[in-house]
Order: sequence, then C-alpha cells, then structure tokens
Amino acid sequence: MVTDKMPEPKRKRSFMWSCLPSAILLSAVFFIGSAFLVTDYKERFLGACNLYPIKATKSKTCEYECRPNGTETLPRGIVSRTTDMEMRPLSGPPKKKKLKSPMNLLGIAVGIKQKQNVNEIVKKFPLTDFAVMLFHYDGNVNGWRDLEWSNSVVHVSAINQTKWWFAKRFLHPDVVAQYDYIFLWDEDLGVENFHAGRYLSIVKEEGLQISQPAIDAEKSEVHYKLTEREISSKVHRRAINLHGPGRRCYENSMEPPCTGFVEMMAPVFSRVSWRCAWHMIQNDLVHAWGLDFQLGYCAQGNRTTNIGIVDSEYLIHLGLPTLGGSSGTKINDEVEKQSSPDKILPNAGKTEISAVEPSDERNAVRRESFIELDDFKNRWKKAVREDECWVDPLQTPPQQN
Ligand SMILES: *[C@@H]1O[C@H](CO)[C@@H](O)[C@H](O)[C@H]1NC(C)=O
Ligand SMILES: *[C@@H]1O[C@H](CO)[C@@H](O)[C@H](O)[C@H]1NC(C)=O
Ligand SMILES: *[C@@H]1O[C@H](CO)[C@@H](O)[C@H](O)[C@H]1NC(C)=O
Repeated sequence: MVTDKMPEPKRKRSFMWSCLPSAILLSAVFFIGSAFLVTDYKERFLGACNLYPIKATKSKTCEYECRPNGTETLPRGIVSRTTDMEMRPLSGPPKKKKLKSPMNLLGIAVGIKQKQNVNEIVKKFPLTDFAVMLFHYDGNVNGWRDLEWSNSVVHVSAINQTKWWFAKRFLHPDVVAQYDYIFLWDEDLGVENFHAGRYLSIVKEEGLQISQPAIDAEKSEVHYKLTEREISSKVHRRAINLHGPGRRCYENSMEPPCTGFVEMMAPVFSRVSWRCAWHMIQNDLVHAWGLDFQLGYCAQGNRTTNIGIVDSEYLIHLGLPTLGGSSGTKINDEVEKQSSPDKILPNAGKTEISAVEPSDERNAVRRESFIELDDFKNRWKKAVREDECWVDPLQTPPQQN
C-alpha cells in the first residue's frame, strides 16, 4: 500500500532519519479531536535503510537485509514505516467515506477572529482528498467546535506561534510523506475563485513542484508583480516589471522574484519539494523571511519551469495583521531591499518602519522579521562558505541528458 508509493531515493531517506525524533516531540502542544489519539499515531516512518547483517538461520538471502535503522530486532512485517493525519474511530469501521488516494494536506495557522474566513477556506478542501490541520496560535480551539468539519480535522494549539513554527514541528516530511501536495496557507485568503481539485490537476499537468494561486490584484494587497493574477491565463512562471515598484524584472531575468518564486502566504509544495523546503526552515527563525527567495533550491531542477503561479484558480489576499496572516508581510519598498541573500543589507534589522502606522506590537513583529531575515542570509552565506562539497545547482548549466 502506502509503502509502495514512496518514490524518494534511498539517499534522501537516510539523510532524513537522524532528524526525526525531535520533530515528533509533542510536549508543548496538545492535540484535540475525538478520535485522534497520540497512541494511535503509528510510528511508520521512512527511515534509513541499514544493511544489517542478520544471523542466517532461515535462508542465506537474509544475510544482508535492508531494514530501517532501529528496527533490526523486529520482524520485518510488523514494521510500519509511514504515518498519516487520518483520524481513527475508537471502535468499528472508519466513519469517513472511502478516502481517495493519494491524499493531500492543508495546514493553516488560525485565530478565532478569522473563523468565518477560515471556514470558507476549509470548505474548499474536500475532506475526501485532503487531510486538514488547523494550527491555533491563540489557543482557542473550542470556539471552532460548531463548524461541521471541526471534528474531522486535526487541531494543534500553541500560543503565539507562527505558521512556520508549526510546520517545522508538525509537518516533518516523514510524517507527511504520504501526501502528494502540501498546502501551507495563511488564514487571510479569500477563496471565492479557487477550486482545489482543478488547482491540483493544473499543477500536475504543468509539473509545478512549488506553486501558489495567483493573487487578484484588484482586490488585494499584492507584494510582487510575479504573483499577480494574469487574466485569461492558466499559469505563468515569470513577470516583467520594467518600472517597479519593487525589483525590476526583464524578459531574461532568471532570479526571484522575477521567476522561480512564490510568496509565503499560500505556497503549495509537492512531496519532494516539501522534503527539501522543510530542511531550510530554521527552528528559531519563526517568521521565515528570506525562505521564499531560496525556494528555487527545492524546485527539483529548473526553478523557472518547476515553480509557477496558477492564474485560473486565484485568491484574494486580505492582508490582515494576524499571526496566521500577513503580520510580517513585506511592503514594496522593503521588498526591494530584500533582494537576494547573497547581498547582506547593512542595518537590515533596523530598517525604518514605514508610515503605515501599525500598532507597536505589529512593529515589533516586523522588526523581528527583519532581524531574522538578516540572520537567515548570514546563515546561508556561512553554509555556502563552509560546505566545500556544495555546488550551487542553480549556477550550473544543465547537462544535456
Ligand atoms: C542508527 O541510529 C542511531 C541513532 O540515531 C545512530 O547513532 C546510528 O549511527 C544509526 N546507524 C546507522 C547505520 O545509520
Ligand atoms: C501573545 O502575544 C500577544 C501579542 O504579542 C500578547 O499580548 C500575549 O500576551 C501573548 N500571549 C502569551 C500567552 O504569551
Ligand atoms: C530553465 O527553463 C527556462 C525556461 O524554459 C530556460 O529559459 C532556461 O534556460 C532554463 N534554465 C536552465 C538553467 O536550464
């Protein structure tokens, strides 16, 4: 079943394995959901595969069997290598209708103030095709109980944490390995013109490893030309922006945010690209600024072709200042300064706050986001400098077959 569908090569798996235990520590949070019990959360992970010498008592072919690290003492058939977010009944058959396979996953950071909007979003994701996780940053879980789907989704609660904090802890790639696509969305998105099924068929057809629905520029706060909806287009992969605002983009620009780029408000990752992106999320840099510019490294090849914006299924970005929304969202003049992580910005952490007059609290979050951005860039530079074996895949011309 599930184990047959895991296409990742072994080398990647083994890299993963050592990071796993920390990711499943649930100490700071609690799960709510009638049938979702931690004890039922089968530890079926994709792990490293060891060539473990076994005392050949049955037949010679056992001698070097490939077993996940840690399971050498268990008979093979009992080892459950993957897991999922499906809830199970305490007794009797599952209540849900037969699930489609493969499933996809939607994760949203939410606060009760956005309940109505989140309701609209979740209703767009049929539970037969999607596992849904709500990450409650305000600790209010009970307030959602009256929604009909509430008991069918996984609720995770941790006060004042961001979407990226939750994603790093609860969407470890091994844990979500059975999901085809991961939607990691903000709560302040308008979904009137979005259909999840059509969206999925488009990204599959177009081979988009990382994507986002386009943003309706008429009704939204749009930060990048690239993510603006192009009317009567299905998908676009680059934007031309000759006069600003923001970074100038020309026909031959090969770098984000001109191409190979999505914003952090509504990204959609394929399984393999998520495996990469998760590793780039830093545990302590919870606003994840700067990550968007590096996502090209997770595009599984040419970022210009494998990253795209879907125009025919699009969103309205409400731009609300919440933890599950655009509290830390950059505005255009800031965007311009961000540029690529190779260029270290002097005093980026102390960038003047714009005249938008957000609250002190929001200012503090913004300031922190800039500090994190600087940190992230410095870490990237340091990592590049110190990893003598690393070759920048985006600088290397592709070999002809
Ligand atoms: C198996 O896992 C343990 C604990 O994580 C680690 O110390 C050991 O090196 C691993 N063995 C192999 C062969 O990967
Ligand atoms: C969460 O953050 C808000 C805004 O910064 C703050 O007022 C509140 O005290 C925080 N809550 C906790 C439990 O830290
Ligand atoms: C990536 O794809 C674009 C568009 O197809 C192409 O112009 C570009 O040369 C490709 N880049 C690389 C590095 O192959």
